[in-house]
Amino acid sequence: MKEKLDAILKNGLSEIENANDLKVLDEVRVKFLGKQGELTSILRNMKEIPPEERKDVGMVANVVRNKLEEAISSKLAVLEEENLIKEMEKERVDITMPSKGTKKGSLHPLTRFNNKFIELCVEMGFTVIQTPEIETDYNNFEALNVPKNHPARDMQDSLYITDNILLRTHTSPAQVRAMHTFKPPFKIVCPGRVYRNDDDSSHSPIFNQFEALVIDENISLKDFMAMVKAMAVRLYGKDVKMRVRPSYFPFTEPSIEIDATCQICHGKGCSLCKGTGFSEFFGGGIVNPKILEMAGIDSKKYSGFAFGPGIDRSVMVLNRIPSIKYLFRNDMRFLKQMR
Ligand code: DAH
Repeated sequence: MKEKLDAILKNGLSEIENANDLKVLDEVRVKFLGKQGELTSILRNMKEIPPEERKDVGMVANVVRNKLEEAISSKLAVLEEENLIKEMEKERVDITMPSKGTKKGSLHPLTRFNNKFIELCVEMGFTVIQTPEIETDYNNFEALNVPKNHPARDMQDSLYITDNILLRTHTSPAQVRAMHTFKPPFKIVCPGRVYRNDDDSSHSPIFNQFEALVIDENISLKDFMAMVKAMAVRLYGKDVKMRVRPSYFPFTEPSIEIDATCQICHGKGCSLCKGTGFSEFFGGGIVNPKILEMAGIDSKKYSGFAFGPGIDRSVMVLNRIPSIKYLFRNDMRFLKQMR
């Protein structure tokens, strides 16, 4: 019986050694150690072995089983490792292959314009803030000296959510929030979307403004003009010309409208500037002292200027976009042309 066991061990080890893939190795395992396996049947038939031999045979059979199991598990590890390497070879990425090419995105023309403007303001020492697009009636109108019966407060023009909450109709509420947040002196700008109940070929219910507010001691119209001129030079070049017209806003006193050289005809006169050579640049003025007082700022000590240009029209003119609607449709055919 011992010889038989020795032979099983010898054959088993050599078959394990020769198994060159996982499937063959498993067949070898079944052949020797499986339920119907050679070794298993010896162990099962121990009863037939004479009692005096049984103990020895049992011991040897266990040793043989352990050796075979050990040999199988180390062979299994080797074969699995080889398999993994083969798999990895198969999946290797050829980094020398030419690429399919990626589709490049680009910034929206409004974003590009905004970025340029923000960069300029940051250089001038402004803090950029963002304030909510859903505003209180108080911040949007009342705190800006827009009286209760002002036409802008009509449901026809403003998009109210409740009696006291609306989609901001301009970025000017950022001024109110800034005056409650920062201690003078301060300079803030707030770019953002604004909403009005207006929808035709040149108006969109969503458009964009860029609010600026400077509060300090001894601020006058001269400071305002100097800063606007510096901005115009930076945006349009040093030959830019400006002209000033009187205007009216409830939150500035005096209020002015500033025009700059038309960027399409460079001052020669064209259909866009109606032959004047100028196009609208900024509207703004000296902050009405009432506004400062309402926000708790001493208007005897501090004064300020503010302006809040709409930027969609400038973007349209600069990029020759015929309708404001294109800016909000996200039509890829349009956006691709704007790169
Ligand atoms: N908020 C005004 C509008 O929507 C624009 C404006 C005018 C903003 C004068 C200002 C300002 O800050 O001083 O028409």
